[in-house]
Amino acid sequence: MTHPVETTPVPAPASPQRPARVLAIESSCDETACAIVEGLEVRASVVATQIEVHASFGGIVPELASRHHLSAVIPVIEATLAKAGLTDLRDLDAIVVTDRPGLVGALLVGVQVGRGLAAATGLPLLGVHHMEGHIFSPFLGDEQRSSEPFTPHLALLVSGGHSELVHVRGLGDYEILGATRDDAVGEAFDKVAKLVGVGYPGGPVIDRLAKEGDPAAIAFPRAMLRDRKNLEFSFSGLKTAVLVHIEEHGQPSSRAELADLCASFQAAVVDVLVAKTRRARARVGASRVHVVGGVSANSALRAAIEAAAIEDGFTVSVPALRYCGDNAAMIGAAGAARFAAGVRGGVSVAASVPLDDPSMVLP
Ligand code: KG4
Ligand code: ZN
Repeated sequence: MTHPVETTPVPAPASPQRPARVLAIESSCDETACAIVEGLEVRASVVATQIEVHASFGGIVPELASRHHLSAVIPVIEATLAKAGLTDLRDLDAIVVTDRPGLVGALLVGVQVGRGLAAATGLPLLGVHHMEGHIFSPFLGDEQRSSEPFTPHLALLVSGGHSELVHVRGLGDYEILGATRDDAVGEAFDKVAKLVGVGYPGGPVIDRLAKEGDPAAIAFPRAMLRDRKNLEFSFSGLKTAVLVHIEEHGQPSSRAELADLCASFQAAVVDVLVAKTRRARARVGASRVHVVGGVSANSALRAAIEAAAIEDGFTVSVPALRYCGDNAAMIGAAGAARFAAGVRGGVSVAASVPLDDPSMVLP
């Protein structure tokens, strides 16, 4: 479902001396988040998670997500404003909302509130692609990170809905080199966690359990590694391999067996992600690799990509842990960059839009 693109009037920037200051709202999935961001600097960031709401279902229930965004969004915005010490919204340059991709009912909550704020203040309303937000996440955080400019790089985007290798050539200039043919990697973590009954979301639990296990205990498949030109991913076969293993051997009967299964599954995922990232980096000749999205919090993935970086001679950046999962600070940073580049409108709600869509290119 796509709504027509809207534009808002063009006011003059508050001051050319300082980076754009924006209020951002994120509500694309199961986190209601708000942030005040100045350029790449985060003045306040608040995230209200719905994990407990969806945990008993083993996955996100879209209708429940929309309902909880509705009740959380205003308190989250108020808490963010209080944290930033901002009393007058007219001290901002723009309102930024995640407008795609995501659950449409969930997205619409943030977008409608954003529209209301923009109408009440006369500020421009900018829409940001959720994955463009993730691309900005490694630039946020401590002093060192936030002073880093947005530079060209290869990004490995790994979240609950996406698994992609993207050549980031500039703001809005993205080349998708490879994507998943079936499940996203975070989805695979969540489904495997459900299979072994360790709870939702599965990524953090499997990551923790895997630390106690042997990654070589079970030889799970590494999909599509043989063809060296192929930069696509597939994780549904791996999920089936875990299911078949459980059918043949029964559920793990001890914590040690469970840890071995988690470590072996995680090693299969990480091997494929890192091998394909190395190939993609060599292909585009990038000197930097950024790993972003919820799965970038994974400790084995971080360790393996850092080891590959030393071997191949490239630089790695990952987000601070608090900016790996969904948050509005990353949306604000992307929105502030778009504002600085002259963008003053363009909200287009959609469930699914690739990063290399023509609408991403700066006007
Ligand atoms: O980016 P994100 O917060 O939401 C989406 O945009 O989808 O990613 C959520 C995903 C979930 O599937 C969760 O299981 C996974 O990120 N995740 C992890 C870890 N922490 C979160 N996966 C592996 N290891 C982790 N430590
Ligand atoms: Zn996300």
